[in-house]
Amino acid sequence: MKVADATILQMLVEKNVSLQPHNSFGIAAKALQLVRVASQADVAAVLADPALQSAPKFVLGGGSNIVLTGDVRPLVLKVEIMGRQLVAETERAWIVEAGAGENWHELVAWTLAQGLPGLENMALIPGTVGASPVQNIGAYGVELQDRFESLDAVDLETGRAFTLDAAQCAFGYRDSVFKHPPTAPGEAGRPGLGLAGKALITRVRFALPKPWKPVLGYADLERRMAQEGLSDARQVSAQQIFDWVCDIRRAKLPDPAVLGNAGSFFKNPTVSPEQCADIIAREPKLVHYPMPDGSIKLAAGWLIDACGWKGKAVGHAAVYEKQALVLVNKGGTQNPVTGGEVMTLAKAIQTSVYERFGILLEHEPVVV
Ligand code: EPU
Repeated sequence: MKVADATILQMLVEKNVSLQPHNSFGIAAKALQLVRVASQADVAAVLADPALQSAPKFVLGGGSNIVLTGDVRPLVLKVEIMGRQLVAETERAWIVEAGAGENWHELVAWTLAQGLPGLENMALIPGTVGASPVQNIGAYGVELQDRFESLDAVDLETGRAFTLDAAQCAFGYRDSVFKHPPTAPGEAGRPGLGLAGKALITRVRFALPKPWKPVLGYADLERRMAQEGLSDARQVSAQQIFDWVCDIRRAKLPDPAVLGNAGSFFKNPTVSPEQCADIIAREPKLVHYPMPDGSIKLAAGWLIDACGWKGKAVGHAAVYEKQALVLVNKGGTQNPVTGGEVMTLAKAIQTSVYERFGILLEHEPVVV
C-alpha cells in the first residue's frame, strides 16, 4: 500500500516545468521539480514521501511578487487549494474563508457579488489569496491586516497543521512573520518566530466589518468622488469604490498580462521628522506623508522619478514610464527579462537614490 502511494505521488512530480507563465514578470526560469498542491492532504503526502520529505521547498502562489534569478532547485509546491465560502456571521463581521490558491481579485469581486463588502479598496491586486498575508497587501487606504481574521497553514518540516490570528502573523507595512527567517532575533534578543520557508498557507479567513463603511480618505478616491459630483461618503457604494480602484490602477499600473511586472518594486521608506526636514531643505518638492506614529513616509516613486529613472533600462528590465516605482519586462515572452537584469537595474536605482537623498530603498518582491 505504502509503495503504491509513493508510486502514485512520484507520477505527480513534474520535472523541468517552465515557470514563465507562473511569475508576473514573465522571467523564463524552470522548476527542476514541481508538485501541485490542491489540498492539505497533498502537503501531507509530499512530507510522507521519503524522496521528497527532506528536500528544500519553495512555495509558489501567483508569482506576482517574486524575481527569479535562475532555475529553482528546491521542490516547488504550487498552491492550488480552491474554495470560497461564508463560514460565519458575528455581530461585528461576516467571516469569509478562501483557499490559498484562489485568485485575489476574483475573491474581491465574488465577495461583492455575495453582498459582502469590505475588500473593494484592494481590487485588482495581482496574486493569490495565500500570498496576501505574506506581504500584508494593501492599497487605497486598506491593508489586508484590517480585514484579516485568521489563517490555516502547514509546517513544512513536521506536517503539523496550525492556525494563526492577526497578532501571531505580526503584520507590518508589506511585512509579516512569513517574510522573516526562523533564526532572526526577535524583540529583546529572544529567538525570532519567523516562518519564511517553513510554512505553507492553506486557507485564509477574512472579517468583513458590519456595518460596512466606505474608506475614501485616499487622494485619488477623493478626486474621483468630486468628479462624480458626490460630496457625502454615504452616497458611495462598495461597487463604485471597486470600479474606481480598478480604473485608477489600470491607468497607473501596467497589466502584468501585457507588460510583465511585480507591482511596486520598492517599499515607501520611513524617516524621522528631522531627517525629512533635512531633505526638504535641499529638495523642497519631496512627497511625504506624516504617519500616526510620528514618523514620515516618503513616496519611493517620487524619489526614483526625481533621479530621472522613468523609462531607463538595463537589458530588458526597465522603469515603467508612467510610474517609477514599477519595474517592467520590456522583452515580452519572446525575449524575456532576466532576474539578473532586474536586480542590476534595482541596485543602480538604489545607489542613485542613496547618493542623492541618503535613503536606502528596500525592494518589495522576494528574490529567488
Ligand atoms: N510619484 C512621482 N513619480 C512617479 C511615481 C509616483 O512623482 O513616478 C509620486 C506621485 O505623484 C505621488 C506619490 O509619488 O505623489 C505616490 O505615488 P503613488 O500613489 O502612485 O504610489 P504609492 O503611494 O507609492 C502605494 C503602494 C501601491 C498601492 C498604492 C495605492 C507601496 C510601495 N505601493 O503606492 O501598492 O497600490 O499605494 O494605495 O506601498 C504594490 O505594493 O505592489 C502596490 C502597487
